[in-house]
Amino acid sequence: MHQPVLLEETISYLITDLSGIYVDCTLGGGGHLKRLLASLQQDARVIAIDKDRDILEKTRKTIQVANVTFCHSDFSRLTQVLAQQNINKVDGIMLDLGVSSFQLDIADRGFSFHEDARLDMRMNRDQDLTAWDIVNNYSEAEISAILFEYGEERYARRIARRIVTKREENSINTTLQLVDIIKSCVPAGYKRGKHPARKTFQALRIAVNGELDALQSVLPQAVDLLKTGGRLCVITFHSLEDRIVKHFMQEKARDCICPPGLPICICGHQAELKINTRKSVEPDAQECEQNSRARSARLRVATKL
Ligand SMILES: C[S@@+](CC[C@H](N)C(=O)[O-])C[C@H]1O[C@@H](n2cnc3c(N)ncnc32)[C@H](O)[C@@H]1O
Repeated sequence: MHQPVLLEETISYLITDLSGIYVDCTLGGGGHLKRLLASLQQDARVIAIDKDRDILEKTRKTIQVANVTFCHSDFSRLTQVLAQQNINKVDGIMLDLGVSSFQLDIADRGFSFHEDARLDMRMNRDQDLTAWDIVNNYSEAEISAILFEYGEERYARRIARRIVTKREENSINTTLQLVDIIKSCVPAGYKRGKHPARKTFQALRIAVNGELDALQSVLPQAVDLLKTGGRLCVITFHSLEDRIVKHFMQEKARDCICPPGLPICICGHQAELKINTRKSVEPDAQECEQNSRARSARLRVATKL
């Protein structure tokens, strides 16, 4: 079962009107949604989105209430998804980024470096691009850039070079083949800490699912869709995501964004958000002990002005 992270903190920030309209952009196993429904009144409405059809259908069966609308979509299409429901303003929007335990635990999805499976990693199985395509068809420079940029993998070049050498012998088909390739080219000391394939798998997953582009696309839409006083709550799991959310909220919370040194403001920019969490909210020691996934979680919240 997926254990929702920062559950109480997220829901208490998110709710500003017990009868309002809310969007859970990352339904997953529905942990946050169930807690949200338990707090809201029955006349409230929730739109729950996930791009993974399997998880959406599985969770839909466990939440049979009339005031939730389930939508199979990428959250980067948030404005269109809400327009299809005749909604143009909402009271709260939440995102709990990344993959759910459900996806990690199903070996054949190819997300886990512990289980052998075809290199897949698609959250949306309707899409064409898989991790197999990247590993077997992208150039060495492209693979290296993905591992470095999205995984902050210090051995990106070595791993990319070894992948390209190995695939000349035979295509690289499975997760454990890739794990062996990574292990064969990183220094011994690197294998003693966290799993040596962790960053490569994170990078491939981000690339396959366009995760950072989707995040960059949904944030401005969310601001436009919030009512005055409505809240945006985002839970991230690594520094790349957290940086995007932090910088976005900081910029939207500033009146003037002119370059420093100008004698007068020429941008006319006006703050649209007030940041509620100057420092990100982190799980306490007890939550980290009970749920290892929570250790890297960070919650940032802002209110629409
Ligand atoms: C960490 S899980 C959410 C867990 C959920 N909050 C819970 O408590 O059970 C993230 C979910 O978001 C979905 N997801 C990730 N990126 C998405 C995107 N761009 N559009 C829609 N869903 C996405 C994933 O498929 C996954 O099911």
